[in-house]
Amino acid sequence: MTAAPLPVVTLDGPAGVGKTTLARRMAESLGIAYLDTGAMFRCLALRLGPGADTWEDERLQAACAAHGFSLEGNGAATRICCNGVPVRGEIRTEEVGMLAARLGQVPLVRAYLCEAQRRLAEQRPLVVEGRDMGTVVFPTARFKFFLDASPEVRALRRLRDLEARGQAADLAELTEQIRKRDAMDRNRPIAPLRAAPDAVVVDTSTLDIEGVLGTLLHIVSVHGGATLLHACGGVQ
Ligand code: DC
Repeated sequence: MTAAPLPVVTLDGPAGVGKTTLARRMAESLGIAYLDTGAMFRCLALRLGPGADTWEDERLQAACAAHGFSLEGNGAATRICCNGVPVRGEIRTEEVGMLAARLGQVPLVRAYLCEAQRRLAEQRPLVVEGRDMGTVVFPTARFKFFLDASPEVRALRRLRDLEARGQAADLAELTEQIRKRDAMDRNRPIAPLRAAPDAVVVDTSTLDIEGVLGTLLHIVSVHGGATLLHACGGVQ
């Protein structure tokens, strides 16, 4: 039996740090797919609705099991699908983000999605992004990065993102929401947001996306990323 390919790159970090954009751009450069695990939590949160984090185990387990995840496409065109249908932009609101953070505190939900994430990574090499990729879900991944930036910088980036999608938002409110979500993600007892001991920590506060992308790709390249991608079936 051949060893399952492992995700080549893990990107962890707090809300609004730019993980999804970076994962997409890295995947495009490396010629592989990316997995936005926040989209999985968000999708479940939206479909199950407010209060699902308080449901009794049996009900919640059945609801999770009714949602299967798959990936289509490659590089920047990768799409995460729920029950065969691409997940849509409606998950990208702060309200859904907060519901997702609540759901992410429930061990049963984390176990379900952790298993789903590992199954997706058995099929192909991936750039995976989330909160616990390098620490819990893929502890043996070859390249691990932890991205950080101040809450103010992240709130401003989120504001720009939302505006680009035609959604109005208030900067002070966004900063407050980001601080709240940080507290939930960092302080939960299970799989809290933190850098893996072997992750490269990059403070992105003063770097633009191109600067961060260049730094990460350089590290992957000088440490044999292309060879590894070939070995585990990447496109490049
Ligand atoms: O990355 P994001 O903002 O889309 O994630 C939304 C929420 O989902 C986040 O605040 C916590 C939860 N989440 C998680 O607990 N673990 C992950 N790997 C990804 C997201």
